[in-house]
Amino acid sequence: MDILGIETSCDETAASVVQNGNVILSNVVASSLSFHKKYGGIIPEIASRKQLELINLVVERAISPIGKKNISAVAVTAYPGLIGSLLVGISWARAFAFAIKKPLITIDHVYAHLYANFLKNEKQKTPYPKLPAIGLVVSGGHSNLFLIKNFDNFQLIGKTRDDAAGEAYDKVARILNLGYPGGPIIDKIAQKGENNKIHFPIASLKETFDFSFSGVKTAVFYHTKRLKKKNTSIVSQIAYSFQKSVVRSLVEKSILCCKKMKIKTLLIGGGVAANSYLRSEMLKAAGHEKIRVFFPPLNLCLDNAAMIAGLGYQIYKIKNKNGGGHFA
Ligand code: KG4
Ligand code: ZN
Repeated sequence: MDILGIETSCDETAASVVQNGNVILSNVVASSLSFHKKYGGIIPEIASRKQLELINLVVERAISPIGKKNISAVAVTAYPGLIGSLLVGISWARAFAFAIKKPLITIDHVYAHLYANFLKNEKQKTPYPKLPAIGLVVSGGHSNLFLIKNFDNFQLIGKTRDDAAGEAYDKVARILNLGYPGGPIIDKIAQKGENNKIHFPIASLKETFDFSFSGVKTAVFYHTKRLKKKNTSIVSQIAYSFQKSVVRSLVEKSILCCKKMKIKTLLIGGGVAANSYLRSEMLKAAGHEKIRVFFPPLNLCLDNAAMIAGLGYQIYKIKNKNGGGHFA
């Protein structure tokens, strides 16, 4: 069964066709990032206007190798995201589903970030994760821990009390004048900044699975403000120490959560899941506890429509079993 997925929650305009929930037949992502860079963040009005311009072309590219006739259902990101951007994707998907007389499935794109771990990855020969699992979503807008019992049962058990992890990366990059988005550049320069001199604190929020990243961001701000000189090597050291604090918090909470819930599968998703230090530290810690940890391939960590189409298939199957009919 081939499902068309559409994702327009932020700056991307994405469409993909996925077969039976895991084989990616096409995956097209267009980004308006270059139009936002000079403002240091995403401008919602620019994002939705670009999406209006791009959506026809992007979907056409995604479905042309498969053929419109072979699409069995349309899945679309319904929340969370920028309201104008979501509106473009939802309106397009609704009209298209109506025109081809197929069901429309609405998807929570935060859950879909974790579903990216179930998409086929022939090259790496990664085995499929098994549910129940603990899921950590670390994106620009979310840092959430979920207990996932089934594809229609994501229980929120921890969240950030302030900034999301990706948001903290972006704000720290702005403090250090590194440009937007901050995650990839901090990931890169932190590799040259290893040191034991700078220590940034991180809120531990004991007795909960919640995170807090605004304190470490403020600590970076005051540390940077006090500096008399700011050369590349000092900036790399700050980036390293900031990243170390954030990653330690993400790793410790996720592993503790798996241990407390007695769950041996951990899924990671969202843009920050592309971070090389998070990937290596999480794999190390999970290995010690015999927990199997899964990361999506790099291109599926960031917003994409394959994860929407994949999760859409699972929701379609579950709803059909329970009587089917109306999905959206
Ligand atoms: O999941 P995503 O594409 O969009 C949202 O749903 O928010 O995540 C975007 C976020 C940005 O904050 C970006 O700085 C961060 O992911 N990011 C990274 C890396 N690549 C992207 N953060 C840390 N390390 C990276 N390599
Ligand atoms: Zn996202």
